[in-house]
Amino acid sequence: MRAVVVDRWMEPSELAVREVPDPEAGPGMLGVEVRAAGCNFFDILMAKGQYQVKPPFPFVPGAELAGVVQTVGPDVRGFKAGDRVLAAVPLGAFAERAAVPARAAMRMPDGMSFEEGAAFPIVYPTSYAGLVFRAGLRAGENLLVHAAAGGVGIAAVQIGKALGARVIATAGGPEKLEIAKRAGADVAIDYASGDWVEAVKQATEGRGADVIYDSVGGDVTDGSLKCIAWNGRLLVIGFASGRIPEVKLNRVLLKNISLVGLHWGAHAMYEPARIGETFDALFGLLAAGKIRPLVYKTYPLNELPEALAAIGSRRSWGKVIVRP
Ligand SMILES: NC(=O)c1ccc[n+]([C@@H]2O[C@H](COP(=O)([O-])OP(=O)(O)OC[C@H]3O[C@@H](n4cnc5c(N)ncnc54)[C@H](OP(=O)(O)O)[C@@H]3O)[C@@H](O)[C@H]2O)c1
Repeated sequence: MRAVVVDRWMEPSELAVREVPDPEAGPGMLGVEVRAAGCNFFDILMAKGQYQVKPPFPFVPGAELAGVVQTVGPDVRGFKAGDRVLAAVPLGAFAERAAVPARAAMRMPDGMSFEEGAAFPIVYPTSYAGLVFRAGLRAGENLLVHAAAGGVGIAAVQIGKALGARVIATAGGPEKLEIAKRAGADVAIDYASGDWVEAVKQATEGRGADVIYDSVGGDVTDGSLKCIAWNGRLLVIGFASGRIPEVKLNRVLLKNISLVGLHWGAHAMYEPARIGETFDALFGLLAAGKIRPLVYKTYPLNELPEALAAIGSRRSWGKVIVRP
């Protein structure tokens, strides 16, 4: 089969498609023909050897896929050849075929395209679990979503609206603000220019935001603590800015703030029951037309370097997809 192979640490621009043997789908696994794969910033880091996970060489990168089941491992129940599935996987999505742990695979809802399926398995559960299980977002609350046109950001805007919150979005530049508004944001603020902290205060009549969805970190977290409401929850999702901020705990005390974190990947290990619950809820919202993955662009597999460059340059919005 054709696959992208990393056999030494390399620049993403050097990633190339090669002929490799098909992966084996043994016990507990599904053999899946990959129709679309989602790209993430950490794919860039992984190719360069700068990610916390450093797989042994050679490996096929890629962590999100949608495709069709070809073979079913001997002990696997609940799937058959021909099923359309989506999954988050540790490795192997940038290929024509992948071995997928059956416990990580979800049957795709009718009407969902493979591109949409590949755009779904990380960002939607991350945003749902963060907003619902960790931040306890309630209808009528003000939800501030930073980087609202990014992968997890768009999902947070859509889910926040679906849960009845009033959504205030921040993003850099007019195109991304427009994307955030189209995803359902009630207010959109350019945090790359002007005093966004003051703009959030104005948009909440001085109260501040009840829940702040922070996938950016750095200065954005610093500013967030100045415009969070009494009893507010700061939801820590990631550090796209590259700086892990430090928080003065007197701020947490003075405003009754909760700092809550969410690491979706760790749920498989610590709270596996949440996975099914989360996807059931999300597929319900999808069927009701309340959420829909947004795809920036789909590239052929051999253009993975261009696809990752769109993410690395901060040009893309929503999800970037490749098709084998
Ligand atoms: N906790 C979890 O389980 C979990 C799950 C998925 C992702 N994450 C993390 O969440 C973060 C965002 O992921 P994503 O998939 O949404 O990424 P993405 O699609 O690449 O979006 C990231 C957004 O961050 C903003 N940003 C701010 N400063 C930036 C900088 N210096 N460089 C690049 N972008 C910057 C950009 O929006 P503007 O241009 O509008 O500022 C960009 O659209 C990452 O750190 C990722 O590791 C965490």
